[in-house]
Amino acid sequence: MTFPVHRPRRLRRTETLRGLVRETRLSPGDFMLPLFAVSGRGVRNPIASMPGVAQLSVDNLVEEARIAWNAGVRSLILFGIPDKKDAEGTAAWDPKGPVCTAFRALKDALPEMICVADVCMCEYTDHGHCGPLERDARGHVAVANDRTLPLLARAAVAYAEAGADVVAPSDMMDGRVAAIRKGLDEHGLTQIPILSYAVKYASGFYGPFREAAQSAPKEGDRRGYQMDPANVREAVREALLDVDEGADLLMVKPALAYLDVLSAVKRATNLPVAAYNVSGEYAMLKAAAQAGWIDEKRVALEILTAIKRAGADIILTYSAVDAARWLQD
Ligand code: PBG
Repeated sequence: MTFPVHRPRRLRRTETLRGLVRETRLSPGDFMLPLFAVSGRGVRNPIASMPGVAQLSVDNLVEEARIAWNAGVRSLILFGIPDKKDAEGTAAWDPKGPVCTAFRALKDALPEMICVADVCMCEYTDHGHCGPLERDARGHVAVANDRTLPLLARAAVAYAEAGADVVAPSDMMDGRVAAIRKGLDEHGLTQIPILSYAVKYASGFYGPFREAAQSAPKEGDRRGYQMDPANVREAVREALLDVDEGADLLMVKPALAYLDVLSAVKRATNLPVAAYNVSGEYAMLKAAAQAGWIDEKRVALEILTAIKRAGADIILTYSAVDAARWLQD
């Protein structure tokens, strides 16, 4: 006796059928747009390695945010480039600095836009590390972890008071989520959630960002506090530690070379998970597209779909506005 062989029928003959069985759907509301704030008026300093991205003074930044809003993007994250840097990074919490000024202007112009503050000292320290440096008993220079914590809390409070809806520590110091939570709560900012860059690798993909934020370390690198790209169990451990400290959302960064990590973190927690499609990933996309080697729209949407499929609830991407428009066409 012979059995009929099961012949799978592929539900992909038409776009309507494909749509019916599609497992992952991107929408403009998934994206968070990173923006770089500088002081002044009418300033737009393009970042050579990130075509379409520029350092913006607050007036231009608000216009850029409005364009994003009109395309359907509902959240943005701000990085600041201060006029002056020092060893401690004191400009980070300056209420008159570009970031705080931008939050006030954004809340005025686009009250519903979710405005996130990146919290890190590396844009504000003159040495470019994510906190003040100290020499340990053996003469080794490293970031002073515990001395950095109150500085981060102070900056987070300043951003929230200026109008940030969410604060996002990206420094990787131990204990910073708890320190920021305590600082916010003590200032009556109990409703402000913390989006923790819980899983942040020491990655070569941040190169263009460091040009944009002028935050490359003058000496040494960030391997002492950022993660080893070879590790994934450590990522889950880092994520769960931040959950215990009071994180409300978690982030994995970079995205593309870390989709397995993203999916592991997603399975390990019930918190919303964000993924950062970082500057180097964007630079590669743009460079290949400009050379005519790949189709930018097709590849960008494929990348963003893959990041969402791997588990991201939110995707930070420099392609946010383009992708939102492509999705609406
Ligand atoms: C640190 C920070 C970095 C990025 C976001 N926040 C860079 C770093 O650790 O040097 C990188 C983002 C990107 O590459 O797009 N404040």
